[in-house]
Amino acid sequence: MADLDPLAHRSLLVEQVRLEASGVVSLTLVDPDGGELPPWAPGAHIDLRLPSGTVRQYSLCGPLDDPRSYTVAVLREEHGRGGSVEVHDSALVGRVLRARGPRNHFALVDAPHYLFLAGGIGITPILAMIRQVAARGASWELYYGGRTRDTMAFTEALSAIGAERVHIVPQDERGMLPVVELVDAAPDGAAIYCCGPEGMVLAVTGVCAAARPGALHVERFGAPAGGLPGRPVAASAQGPPAGAGHFTVELRRSGLTLEVPPDRTLLDVVREAAPDVGFSCEEGYCGSCETRVLAGVPEHHDTVLSDEERERGDTMMICVGRSASALLTLDL
Ligand code: FES
Repeated sequence: MADLDPLAHRSLLVEQVRLEASGVVSLTLVDPDGGELPPWAPGAHIDLRLPSGTVRQYSLCGPLDDPRSYTVAVLREEHGRGGSVEVHDSALVGRVLRARGPRNHFALVDAPHYLFLAGGIGITPILAMIRQVAARGASWELYYGGRTRDTMAFTEALSAIGAERVHIVPQDERGMLPVVELVDAAPDGAAIYCCGPEGMVLAVTGVCAAARPGALHVERFGAPAGGLPGRPVAASAQGPPAGAGHFTVELRRSGLTLEVPPDRTLLDVVREAAPDVGFSCEEGYCGSCETRVLAGVPEHHDTVLSDEERERGDTMMICVGRSASALLTLDL
């Protein structure tokens, strides 16, 4: 039986690497023993630890009815932080990678209509969503922007699902996605899902804040420049948020108690005792350092958790999160 704990680690064998578009490959990942993998829903992602030890998050974009494999797609980013180049340049087929998840911070809500806005590799979670809403017979429309047609992955698969609802907008042929017009034209009550580069997400967020409050669901690949509406701006590598004080952290499974001074992040302190703890962005937007809270009151500074999850206080991003109680107990 597959382990359903979204924070559990597992091994995944890279069964296939396939070129999906210029600069985009997909990875098919399976259980090394041929078993079933935990189920997932559109919008879910996994954390993959690459051979170098780098941890990156990738949205699942394969078929939902295949319990034996996960598919992710990776855009080669020459000027990125190195993970994508490693995926593209390593001979990964046959290798076993450590992974965590799937977890979902970008879930589909019920709505009478869906407007999907995707930019570049941001199509990956949207592809899974479209498969699901199309299977349900729901009303939907996709506008998919990219630099050039040959860099845009999964265009054929999308057209096969619903050619008349899929609008491919390569920038060199048709310019940028007209997000203001598209949001304006969406029917009342529509859910708007957006995933893509920061500039596009910011533009859509700005339009929706004024015209469609509450309708927008976004997933981003970088820390928001001005924070998400209603959410604190993620703390940066410059240090913990202003006013952050000293507290004590207990690592329950390790049996350790550590002091976190005001000038250090919780992640920094935890890593000294638990060097294997997963992390990636260190800015509170990727979710890879998510850690279960067993006791105490976490103080959230990430842009990953929903308001409901913050309220529950049973999980946190330890790269930017701190503690509102003198003692915080983590499941580490
Ligand atoms: S490392 Fe990315 S959210 Fe903490």
